[in-house]
Amino acid sequence: MLNFYHRMRFFLPSASRQNVSVAFATEKLDVWFAFLQLITAMQVRINKQQFEGGVPAHWSAASALQSHVLNTLSLMFPDGERFFVRSVKYFSDRASDDKMRAEIKAFIGQEMQHGAAHDSFNAAIRPGLADMGWFMYLFTVPTFQGLEPWVHKLDFGMEFGRVGALSVTAAAENMTAGFANMVFEDKELQTAVREDIRDLFMWHAAEEIEHRDLAFDLLKKVNGAYWVRMFGATVAYSIIFAYVVAGTAWFMLNDKNYPWAKLPGDLVKIFTDKFGLGRLFFEGFVDYARPDFHPSDVPAHPQAAQYLEKMAS
Ligand SMILES: [Fe+2]
Ligand SMILES: [Fe+2]
Repeated sequence: MLNFYHRMRFFLPSASRQNVSVAFATEKLDVWFAFLQLITAMQVRINKQQFEGGVPAHWSAASALQSHVLNTLSLMFPDGERFFVRSVKYFSDRASDDKMRAEIKAFIGQEMQHGAAHDSFNAAIRPGLADMGWFMYLFTVPTFQGLEPWVHKLDFGMEFGRVGALSVTAAAENMTAGFANMVFEDKELQTAVREDIRDLFMWHAAEEIEHRDLAFDLLKKVNGAYWVRMFGATVAYSIIFAYVVAGTAWFMLNDKNYPWAKLPGDLVKIFTDKFGLGRLFFEGFVDYARPDFHPSDVPAHPQAAQYLEKMAS
């Protein structure tokens, strides 16, 4: 509907656009457009998949390697996303207008739902995987229970700790929006993966694409300095890379059925395929480092919008 409206505006002859009555009509349309933007703004959707019967370790048809990377990411999502929520919520009073205030609420709701849905998925994959107790301890205790509360207190006259947490969040959101494109491009994930798992990843990916601007725009309002953005990006990308490599390697080394002969080919694929997770990770960082970067520079994947529309119907 909104795209239709945008397209139609450009079809008005330029002479007509200067006509007073048409200009008035256009102005009225602008009011309607603002209203439509408000009522079609981001919303919180619930994914109720329970993954009955459990989920096998190699659930992704693409490769066992991709399965273990996504299993590791899934284990990190709930605590990671709760950190994003805390970081954004702290600055919620800095929203510039009602639209941004509504988007912050929707962002918080969406990330809380993602965390809850991945908690269910993680409970279903755990029996088929090596014990990740040490990993979850290292991922959550020194970071979110130790470092985060301490960093929050650092001020340096600029709320450094809080701004830094928001900057880390904005960069991590860029990463997840990049990974989300893989979900809509990977034909094997779309056709040869169990429906409940596919539904979880497509729902999460579509909403990551939908809210990809929010943390970045909020960071720009709070502190638009380039070094602040790149500080957060360096922290987010290096920490997430280290944890994903450690978790994936642990799963592989403790996987009695791991197809080692396929590993060289799968590694090449994951780092060189246009929508391979490794390539998306590094390309996402390089793109984020452009001084004039904005998340909306990469158009939303058309299938993401279609998926959300399907959910609404
Ligand atoms: Fe999320
Ligand atoms: Fe997100």
